[in-house]
Amino acid sequence: MVRVAVDFPAWLTDRARHIETVLDHFLPEASTQPQRLHEAMRYAVLGGGKRVRAALVYAAGQASLQANTPASAQLMALDHAAAAVELIHAYSLVHDDLPCMDDDALRRGRPTVHVQYDEATAMLAADALQPLAFELLGRMPVAPALVVQAVQQLARAAGSLGMVGGQAIDCDSVNRVLAPDDLQTMHKMKTGAMLEASVVLGGIVAGASSTVRQGLDRYAAAMGLAFQVVDDILDVTADTATLGKTAGKDAAGNKPTYVSVLGLQPSRQFLQQLHHQAREALLPLGPSAELLGCLADFIVNRDH
Ligand code: IPE
Ligand code: IPE
Ligand code: MG
Ligand code: MG
Ligand code: MG
Repeated sequence: MVRVAVDFPAWLTDRARHIETVLDHFLPEASTQPQRLHEAMRYAVLGGGKRVRAALVYAAGQASLQANTPASAQLMALDHAAAAVELIHAYSLVHDDLPCMDDDALRRGRPTVHVQYDEATAMLAADALQPLAFELLGRMPVAPALVVQAVQQLARAAGSLGMVGGQAIDCDSVNRVLAPDDLQTMHKMKTGAMLEASVVLGGIVAGASSTVRQGLDRYAAAMGLAFQVVDDILDVTADTATLGKTAGKDAAGNKPTYVSVLGLQPSRQFLQQLHHQAREALLPLGPSAELLGCLADFIVNRDH
């Protein structure tokens, strides 16, 4: 079992810097034709974001590795997987911010991609990030069977049964009151699926045993939902400067959220339950899952 000496804030800062370098390397240069498209892709991906999904890939990898010293190919494969989930996430944000969806002008403290460029460029830049993610998975230096598993997991999480499906339900739910179960389904799909895929991909690449996989799955299911519950809470409790995106957007857009459906305090209580579930799921994994535990605390307690 891998022992982790955790200075979690330093680890998270290091992973965020590292994935920025990895993404910078994998994205086509801004000087590559068509230049405006590649500039917009780089603008959408680089220079911001908490990088929680990448961190989940690395932490799940750490919890799953069988040996103390991972092979350099395994570390490289984790970079590919972490970059892939961040690319899909960045694409989902670009589309989420478009006027036909949430119509947001601010993201990660900067103008959204369609504001900085134009709608067509934003749409195409996001479109191009998606296949790049799958190209990176295809080039992972691990056994082909693991590549196939990773591709299947990410495709399913990103598609109509996952993120895109959740976004479709979200669009259809404006001005409607959702039952708590339907709200949960929407959140698990639009946000939970990609967080779950991040954890699962880390496990696949690092060769997780079936016991570890079970723990990871339970952890990821709880944290995936928790992430969007926090997002809903922050929309009403945080300010625009801290969030780097416009506060109060959900109420202004008449979106059903945990806060509008359950209320603020019950949402916080539900979040604590999910946090507890996630932490409990890690118990069978022992100290190697310490980073995942710290990430759960970070996700629940974050201020943006
Ligand atoms: C925002 O995700 C969109 C949701 C799925 C809730 P993040 O809060 O992870 O956004 P960044 O990547 O840190 O900007
Ligand atoms: C976005 O949910 C989920 C995805 C991008 C898939 P939100 O619309 O709540 O995200 P923010 O608040 O704009 O970041
Ligand atoms: Mg949205
Ligand atoms: Mg939005
Ligand atoms: Mg939100």
